[in-house]
Amino acid sequence: MTQKIRKAVFPAAGLGTRFLPATKAIPKEMLCLVDKPLIQYGVEEAVAAGCTEIILVSSRGKASMEDHFDRAPELEANLASKNKTALLEVARSVAKLAKVTVTRQAEPLGLGHAVLMAKEIVGNEPFCVILPDDIVDARTACMKQMVEAYEETGSSIIGSEIVEGDAIQNYGCLKVTPDSKNPRLLQISDMVEKPKPQDAPSQNAIIGRYLLTPRIFEMLETITPGAGGELQLTDGIKALLKYEKVYGFTYEGKRHDAGDKLGFLKATVEFGLKNEKLGADFRAWLKQFPL
Ligand code: UTP
Repeated sequence: MTQKIRKAVFPAAGLGTRFLPATKAIPKEMLCLVDKPLIQYGVEEAVAAGCTEIILVSSRGKASMEDHFDRAPELEANLASKNKTALLEVARSVAKLAKVTVTRQAEPLGLGHAVLMAKEIVGNEPFCVILPDDIVDARTACMKQMVEAYEETGSSIIGSEIVEGDAIQNYGCLKVTPDSKNPRLLQISDMVEKPKPQDAPSQNAIIGRYLLTPRIFEMLETITPGAGGELQLTDGIKALLKYEKVYGFTYEGKRHDAGDKLGFLKATVEFGLKNEKLGADFRAWLKQFPL
């Protein structure tokens, strides 16, 4: 029997420089895909995977993220007084998703450092890490698939996908052999953050989904700055490999890099087209463009 996965950490203290100027005063995580901020998609995924506690790793100027998951008494009173019950339910439901706790990362020293900020709140249990700008559109929530893989292996699980050509230099990269019983599971023997294409051990990229055993915190306490001068989560997991098995996991679904301008636009169009209420009108409107 594996320990139940209850907690999900959301590193959200980065500067979002790829999306400037939009992210100068607005957190990247609060950019809106159709009608929900990016971070809400991630929180809903964690809840679908069985998590009941959300830990936001926040920083200066990002209070709107916390407010989004809190009650909004004035807004609720206003909607109630006008009998706008459906909208009232929408506003309330966000605050009911999960228990939300906030910790801060004073300086953006890297993803590994951001995850370390959640050490005390997570405690001694396995937990999820979701990077809110990676949006995974999947029939079964990506993190739920990973929790099932964890229940099968009892080991840390890293979300992975194959990327084409030189793109691997933008990702953490896994050296893997597929598991003989479950082809979605990849046994990891090594990993490297943002390799030069000629040095990449494979085209298996790490995506922004991790399920980690608590020993990762010990590892993160010992790592030194790596790629880009940042304290990299990949380096912490590489250290963990010396003590425990870690698996890559080929998830089922489609990922959008919504922290990148083009990726965000693509996600907006796809989610717009799929939207129950807006999709048909949006599709009809798009047809006027000679594509
Ligand atoms: P990214 O590299 O995508 O985010 O990190 P960034 O640094 O904000 O954006 P760019 O590259 O400058 O455009 C992935 C996630 O990790 C968080 C980010 O907020 C983002 O959600 N992060 C990154 C931290 O919380 N702290 C850090 O020191 C670095």
